[in-house]
Amino acid sequence: MFLRFFEQHGHKIVHSSSLVPQNDPTLLFTNAGMNQFKDVFLGLEKRDYSRATSSQKCVRAGGKHNDLENVGFTNRHHTFFEMLGNFSFGDYFKKDAIAFAWELVTSPEWFGIPKDKLFATIFKGENGIARDDEAYEHWIATGVAPERIYELGMKDNFWMMGDTGPCGPCSEIHYDMGPAASDAGHTDCQFGCECGRYVEIWNLVFMQFDKQPDGKMNPLPKPSIDTGAGLERVTAVMQGVISNYDTDLFVPLIKRAAELTGAPLETELKKEDEEERHHQAASLRVIADHARASTFLISDGVVPSNEGRGYVLRKIIRRAIRHGRLLGQDKPFLFEMVFAVRDLMKDAYPELIETANRVSETIKGEETRFARVLTFGLRELDSALGIGLSNAPAGPHYQQDKTPHFTGQEAFHLYETFGLPLDFMIEAARDAGIPFDMA
Ligand code: ALA
Repeated sequence: MFLRFFEQHGHKIVHSSSLVPQNDPTLLFTNAGMNQFKDVFLGLEKRDYSRATSSQKCVRAGGKHNDLENVGFTNRHHTFFEMLGNFSFGDYFKKDAIAFAWELVTSPEWFGIPKDKLFATIFKGENGIARDDEAYEHWIATGVAPERIYELGMKDNFWMMGDTGPCGPCSEIHYDMGPAASDAGHTDCQFGCECGRYVEIWNLVFMQFDKQPDGKMNPLPKPSIDTGAGLERVTAVMQGVISNYDTDLFVPLIKRAAELTGAPLETELKKEDEEERHHQAASLRVIADHARASTFLISDGVVPSNEGRGYVLRKIIRRAIRHGRLLGQDKPFLFEMVFAVRDLMKDAYPELIETANRVSETIKGEETRFARVLTFGLRELDSALGIGLSNAPAGPHYQQDKTPHFTGQEAFHLYETFGLPLDFMIEAARDAGIPFDMA
């Protein structure tokens, strides 16, 4: 519906680019719809269209925008997600961008989201860059009530692709999910509260500058528009659920992850096991998310390795495996998730039909390798922690007073020599009742 709307308004539908950015050493992974148009914004490249729209594969698991650690524990963070966007390359600017967005979001012919659940934000002016008076006036002219427009600073309302490159003030549309969405149990908090109730669904960036390595803001040749709406969030709103993981983009993957790991689905666990339920549901979400990310990354040519992109991919795969183990699955299972991702997403990404077998093989290899790492690494870890040995020696891990103690050196040794991930160590130490000195 998003793409069709903008096509009707003269935008060319452009297919998602690869997750591996072409010719851009400043970027680890494609992290926004505008990446493939960066040079067009900078005036270095010309296209035969001045308006475009896309649904872009994005990974935010490294670099400036990194959500890896949040995944599983919130309702709407992902390593892989799809960003819907419309772009103007020196064609229309703020007025039309705001009017288009408001029409698509609120018109009963389109998304039909009630206006009294929406808020808009504008850049309040900071760091020598002026308040966005123009955006404010356009929101008012579009029919947004003044009390529903909020003014925020650089952190929220000035978007930059990275440390350098195209950037500008932005305006966001937020949706009120209602008190049930508050992670803090708030019943009457106001917009701006970060408890999970108010969700940003669309970011409209008014591209005006090209940030230089020395921090200088050079004006772009032509003011342009770059927007991004998270498909997963918009879907949650449209399907009337609070969590992205309860939308039809994720439910089939979570079901499959439960089958493959033998974990019960959240609804199948008894009420008494609240905490257990919570942990298992988080693990299933991690697996569903990471299966999408690793499938698309490998499909786009990334291979697990010890550096750069390959290392981030390896971390994602290993984190998924770890959560499989937390659910009781010690055997390879993630490679099977690839086919569930393919089946769910092949209409939008037909390339998955071609790549799924190769992707699955790659993941299986990584699962097998990691199982070996764990066999050796965990044995060493047990001995370092002084557990699992009948005659636990009083090694360096025991202080003079024989209090069990796990040192930073030992942790580093296990990481460096066996590749044992830090979170395994933290957890094992916690289970053994031994303090882990993170610092
Ligand atoms: N490029 C903008 C973002 O990622 C739209 O939020």
